[in-house]
Amino acid sequence: MAKFIALTSTGLLPALEEEIKILELPRTRTQGNGVWFEGSWKHCYQANLHLRSATRVLLPILDFHAYKPEELYNNILKHDFTKYITTEQTIAVEAHGQNHQFNDQRFIALKVKDAIVDQFRDKFGKRPDVDGKNPDLLVVVRLFKGCFSVSIDTSGFSLTKRGYREQTVEAPIREHIAASLLTYAQWSPEEPLLDPMCGSGTFLIEAALKAKHIPPTQYKQTFAFEKFKTFQPDIWAEVLKEAHDKEQSPPLELYGFDNNQSAIRAATENAKAAKVRELINFKPQNLTDLSGKNFNKPGLIIVNPPYGERLGELEKLKVLYSEFASILKKDFKGWRLGFLSGHAELSAALGLKAHRKWPLMNSKLECKFLLYEIR
Ligand SMILES: C[S@@+](CC[C@H](N)C(=O)[O-])C[C@H]1O[C@@H](n2cnc3c(N)ncnc32)[C@H](O)[C@@H]1O
Repeated sequence: MAKFIALTSTGLLPALEEEIKILELPRTRTQGNGVWFEGSWKHCYQANLHLRSATRVLLPILDFHAYKPEELYNNILKHDFTKYITTEQTIAVEAHGQNHQFNDQRFIALKVKDAIVDQFRDKFGKRPDVDGKNPDLLVVVRLFKGCFSVSIDTSGFSLTKRGYREQTVEAPIREHIAASLLTYAQWSPEEPLLDPMCGSGTFLIEAALKAKHIPPTQYKQTFAFEKFKTFQPDIWAEVLKEAHDKEQSPPLELYGFDNNQSAIRAATENAKAAKVRELINFKPQNLTDLSGKNFNKPGLIIVNPPYGERLGELEKLKVLYSEFASILKKDFKGWRLGFLSGHAELSAALGLKAHRKWPLMNSKLECKFLLYEIR
C-alpha cells in the first residue's frame, strides 16, 4: 500500500473529489488543491488514466525539516531513488517555495539532484543524466513553513494536456477546467449540450470523451510510471483492458457555435484528433442568432465567453450578454446555463439569478462559474 495525491487547480477540488469517488479510489483526505488516496500501483495507474479534473498524480515519499543545505542533502539520501530508474535513464528536480534559509529554488533543486545522483554513483559507480525537458524520473520538492515535502511525479506530463488540441483560439479553456465545469453543472449524456461560443471546442470534446467513457488522454500518452523499474506491465494491461471494456457509444446531442469561422475550423480539427468529430455539430453562428427551435428537449448551455479585456469591449459585451439573456428567457425555458464569468459586470448584464456559484482560477484570472436555471 502506498499513499498518492491527485492534484488539481484552485477551485476544482469538489469536481476532483467526485471523480475519485466514482472511480472508487480509496480516498483518505484533501489537502490544498489535492486529494490523497491510499492504495496500490493499480490505483495510481487508474488515477492517471481516468481523472479528467486532475493535473498530476504524485507519490509523496519524504517529509522533513531542514535548515541547512547539508540537512536537505542528508534527508534526501534517506529514500532509495535507485529503485525507480537505471543509470541509463534521466532525472530532473522541480522545486517550489522558499524561506530565508533557502531563498533560491534553483539551489534547492540542485542540492536535491546532487544527493540523488550521488546515491546512484555510490551504489553503481555511475549516475543518471539530468534532462530538464523530458526526464524519466521527475522529483518534486515543496518547501512550506520550513518543511520539505518530496514526491515522485507518476504522471510525467500535465494531465490537462489531452493531446487533441492541435488548433487553438484566443483564450481557450484548459481541458481539466472544462471537464470539472461539466461535473459542476451535472451534465448528463441524455441531455443536449450547447456551447454557443465554443472556440476550439473544449467543452464539447470533453463531454463526448466523458460520455463515451474514453480516458481523457485517449490512450495516446506515455505516463512516467511506465518508465519506472517498479512498473507492472500486467497490471497496466489489466487497467487498459478494463478501460476499453467500459467504453460506450450513447446517442449524443452536442452543438458548438461560434461567430469566428477559424474557431469552428479549429474545433472541428480538434474533435477529429480526439476521434469524436462525428458526435458534435459545429456551425458558424452569432450568439444573437441562437434559437431554441432545433432542440426537442431542454439541456445544458455552457459558455466561456470573452471577458472584454480590451478597451471599449466591455460595453459592447454587456449589450451582447443582455441580448443573450433575452433569447434564453424566450426560447430556452427549462434549460440550465453554466456561465464562466471573469467579470462581475458582464455576468450582471445577464440579469439572471445564479442558483449556484463556484469561485475558481482560470489560468491567472479569478473567475466564477455560475449556474442558472432558465425559467
Ligand atoms: C474565450 S473564447 C472560448 C474558448 C473556448 N471555451 C475554448 O476552449 O476554446 C470565446 C469565444 O467566443 C467567440 N465569440 C465572441 N463573440 C461572439 C458572438 N457574438 N457570437 C458567437 N461567438 C462569439 C469568440 O470567437 C471565441 O471563440
